[in-house]
Amino acid sequence: MEKIDNVFEMDHPLIQHKISILRNKMTGTNEFRKIVEEIAILMGYEALRDLPLHDVEMVTPIEKCRTPVIEGKKIAIVPILRAGLGMVSGLLALVPAAKVGHIGLYRDETTHEPHEYYCKLPSPIDERLIVVLDPMLATGGSAVEAVNFIKQRGGKNIKFMAIIAAPEGIRKLHEAHPDVALYVGHVDRELNEDAYICPGLGDAGDRIFGTK
Ligand code: PRP
Ligand code: URA
Repeated sequence: MEKIDNVFEMDHPLIQHKISILRNKMTGTNEFRKIVEEIAILMGYEALRDLPLHDVEMVTPIEKCRTPVIEGKKIAIVPILRAGLGMVSGLLALVPAAKVGHIGLYRDETTHEPHEYYCKLPSPIDERLIVVLDPMLATGGSAVEAVNFIKQRGGKNIKFMAIIAAPEGIRKLHEAHPDVALYVGHVDRELNEDAYICPGLGDAGDRIFGTK
């Protein structure tokens, strides 16, 4: 795949190792959920490396000083339902004060087009850093729709985190929203005729929630 600006592919061995465990069809729901959370922590650490800091006054046991802190409340974590929910606890472990919004989208099984059924974002949204979570970026339809909703409601500063992405999805999201920084755990080969990522990990929502 060609290198696209604003797309960051993770190369950390821990992330790659954990993605391999997710790919294994023998990995059960319990372990799958735990590993998705761990990957979200590792990817979040990378994706949030440019968070702004401001100095506050702090009193140490030795003396008073000025020292940098982040403003956690200015961050909105927005999972795309259902599968994005599996990544929320990982991001909240990093930024416990973050607000959490939700976008409900499902893909039509035949057309693969996304359909919205829910959208609730923390208000006001325009001043926050918004981190959208979905483990799978396949055709990119759901991601583009999710970012459309956020922008329609005033969101400006948006990052998108996906554990596995297809080149088609990356291209589609980047073409529609070149301003959105995209963090990807691994770029897989292609989509199959059912728009599943190959080799991928199957249906992320079903594997996180134990449905079929
Ligand atoms: C999956 C996945 C993404 C979407 C990706 O959700 O979690 O949201 O598909 O596909 P796309 O890039 O082609 O739009 P799904 O629609 O299966 O819903 P679910 O999470 O409720 O199972
Ligand atoms: N959604 C998934 O959960 N998996 C895929 O491979 C594609 C879309």
